[in-house]
Amino acid sequence: MRPRRFAALGPLTGRIRVPGDKSISHRSIMLGALAVGETTVTGLLEGEDVLSTAAAMRAMGATIERDAGGTWRVHGVGVGGLLQPQAALDMGNSGTSTRLLMGLVASHPITATFIGDASLSKRPMGRVIDPLSQIGASFTAAPGGRLPLTLQGVQPAIPISYRLPVASAQVKSAVLLAGLNTAGITTVIEPVPTRDHSERMLRGFGAHLDVDVEADGTRIIRLTGEAELKPQSIEVPGDPSSAAFFAVAALIVPGSDLVIENVGLNPTRAALFDVLRLMGGSIEELNRRDVGGEPVADLRVRASVLTGIEVDPAVVPSMVDEFPILFVAAALAQGRTVTRGLEELRVKESDRIAVMRAALEQAGARVTETEDGLIIDGTGGEPLRGANNASVATHLDHRIAMSMAVAGLASHGGVEVDDTRPIATSFPVFESLLATATGTAA
Ligand code: S3P
Repeated sequence: MRPRRFAALGPLTGRIRVPGDKSISHRSIMLGALAVGETTVTGLLEGEDVLSTAAAMRAMGATIERDAGGTWRVHGVGVGGLLQPQAALDMGNSGTSTRLLMGLVASHPITATFIGDASLSKRPMGRVIDPLSQIGASFTAAPGGRLPLTLQGVQPAIPISYRLPVASAQVKSAVLLAGLNTAGITTVIEPVPTRDHSERMLRGFGAHLDVDVEADGTRIIRLTGEAELKPQSIEVPGDPSSAAFFAVAALIVPGSDLVIENVGLNPTRAALFDVLRLMGGSIEELNRRDVGGEPVADLRVRASVLTGIEVDPAVVPSMVDEFPILFVAAALAQGRTVTRGLEELRVKESDRIAVMRAALEQAGARVTETEDGLIIDGTGGEPLRGANNASVATHLDHRIAMSMAVAGLASHGGVEVDDTRPIATSFPVFESLLATATGTAA
């Protein structure tokens, strides 16, 4: 464990740039590894989760290297060309690596065992086992459909039409990736839209993928296999889920005026910034542009008086990873914030509803837990009391660690986070950027 106390460091100012988007980074390695020829990736997130994906794709035959200039070069094996891995694939903490790679393996004639850390080994894989069983793959898993899990892929696989029972981009992507090496049309029906990076990138790599949107917003995604992917040159935009921690920190620490450069603002990801604006947050988009087929802008964030709101459950999928940090903003806002429809948060890297309730309470916030959300009565801008002598438990969850670090910045007594190591899964430079933005770098 690597504990650290986060206390008030003063305003966040100047300009920072957050690392590449995690979701896009995973997908660029995976699709590059399935294209024939060299795919180059700049701005790749070099976090542990993405490195787990890269290691697994290497174990299945791809060549993946980082050159001295920081560009990643991926030489793929071609769709259908994945090789039998010689050892278990260690997914570390990464649910995205696990679920998407299960999809890839499912339509190849290979057998792979997936293992992971204590957090990942608690997470449900039944949601991908179900559709991948329908295409003909077979599984042995730990009780409850958990890791360690062995997947025997099938060839030829059966093209399926699958209606998502949970709003999950990981499940959607697993089915689509399995469809790449499946002759015929694989269909995913998505009643509630989730992040669409897989669809955008599959098209970018030359796959035949069509999306129809029905009157009620349901998306029907059809992928034609077997696909041939052409290598691409990919520039990964900054991760809005990482920018989120600095945006909230700048809003709640008085005197802050921070520009966060190059933030991906794909509408299926960016709802946190809209919610914060509705709460009164000053977040300005500068220099809006396109990077690698994704909308991007620099965000200028100024300290603001926030007011609690009822968050519309319809926006949950577009900010599913941002609730821990939204809860921190709510704890400092004037009045009550109500969140609902967050059942999925209970099966993330930790049970983010229960864990944030406990951590924020410890830091002096007024929080009520419901079955599917939190109700938070904010301080009205007054700093939190702080977590006194006890450290808050982060349960191997990077986003809990970073959220409570930000809470510490707006507290009298500071907040000790029990373990900062998990931050490296998604945002290895979080602590150094915090030092830069607060002018406290050594
Ligand atoms: C992700 C999808 C989301 C998100 C995760 C990344 C992805 O998970 O929480 O951090 O890259 O597809 P779910 O699909 O399980 O909601």
